[in-house]
Amino acid sequence: MSTASSTFSKGLEGVVAAQTEMSFINGTEGILEYVGISIGDLASKSTFEETVFLLWNKRLPTQPELDAFTKELRSDYAMCDALKARIRALPKDAQPMHALRTIVSSMAMDDPNPNENSVEAARHKALRILAGAPAVVAAFDRHRRGLDIVEPDQSLSFSANFLWMLNGEKPTDAMVRAFDICMITHADHGLNNSTFTARVIISTLSDMYSAMTGAIGSLRGPLHGGANEGVMKMLNEIPSLDQVEPYIMDKIKNKDRIMGFGHRVYKAKDPRAAELMTLAKQLADDTGNMDLYEKSHAIEQIMEREYASKGIYPNVDFYSATTYHCIGLQLDLFTPMFALSRIAGWAGHVIEQLSDNRLYRPTTDYVGPHNVAYTAIEDR
Ligand code: ACO
Repeated sequence: MSTASSTFSKGLEGVVAAQTEMSFINGTEGILEYVGISIGDLASKSTFEETVFLLWNKRLPTQPELDAFTKELRSDYAMCDALKARIRALPKDAQPMHALRTIVSSMAMDDPNPNENSVEAARHKALRILAGAPAVVAAFDRHRRGLDIVEPDQSLSFSANFLWMLNGEKPTDAMVRAFDICMITHADHGLNNSTFTARVIISTLSDMYSAMTGAIGSLRGPLHGGANEGVMKMLNEIPSLDQVEPYIMDKIKNKDRIMGFGHRVYKAKDPRAAELMTLAKQLADDTGNMDLYEKSHAIEQIMEREYASKGIYPNVDFYSATTYHCIGLQLDLFTPMFALSRIAGWAGHVIEQLSDNRLYRPTTDYVGPHNVAYTAIEDR
């Protein structure tokens, strides 16, 4: 006897579980918009700061509004001493996503009112986490490399400041713009797994820090944001362009998943992958990494031949791997980069959830036995 409702959907596929005014996705046609503006327009014309304002306020800012928002964000770039001490106490061989998750969780303890959930308080906490997370990732990376922490520079944009804190040298305008495009394209994406996690957590009226911590934990999985690291490992495993075909065909024969392909919602090419492909090609050319781009492009062509009929195309993680490599990032920083940007989306969803909250509490379909006699332990 099953208590199944007819609406059971494995993996919640097709279930509408929230309303949002932030991003719109048409998976069949490969369309993504933030508050109605196409991702292509934002990637080519906007900045990360402006995009975050758009997502959080559901409209583009005027120049004075953008200036004020940018100033507020920059005023939260710096880490307090207690936070720096906690980063220095982390094991140097920790994985950056575990470090980020742990430190973001600990930020609640530097907040005198961590549980305050008014929309105004949530916005303030969101800004603090968004502004502070780049310093956390950069400081942890420098700590594990035995280098001193580089203090943030409030004269720099979100993207320039992160690259400055990571490398201790001022990045070129081209690198900053490339990084900013990555931040814009990763900022929000409907009810993906990590965003859903954040909304589920805040729906208990828990707190912003718990929601962000849970979301980071979700994002690092290889089926979600962790796929960009999987893509890079795959590219590194393929010794040369002529080995792409046998490598991929072997994986297909073994029914292995090809990282950076497939999506629950997109059954066409992910529009973010289209943006990042152009960016990856340019950066690869500029930085002497054309072999990576060419291998990626060859993989895409084979996958199109083999899997387009199943609606499996490149997703956001596929070309972001080459892009991050060309920007000079270590492999295990790729998924943290995704997190730095997606904090904007997670926080926006938390605020939406708090503005019209109802506890998430789905049901299970019990498929076990009934009326089972209790057997005494000596008789089992
Ligand atoms: N390579 C090979 N086959 C694939 C791939 C892939 N990347 N993705 C899906 N398939 C196949 C599955 O094997 C399955 O085949 P079958 O019907 O013959 O058994 C079919 O497509 C459906 O797969 P599901 O896992 O049911 O599809 P789902 O919607 O749950 O999967 C997911 C989405 C998890 C993203 C999947 O496409 C995948 O594992 N991709 C690789 C990991 C990846 O790139 N993740 C990043 C996604 S984007 C993001 O989260 C930011």
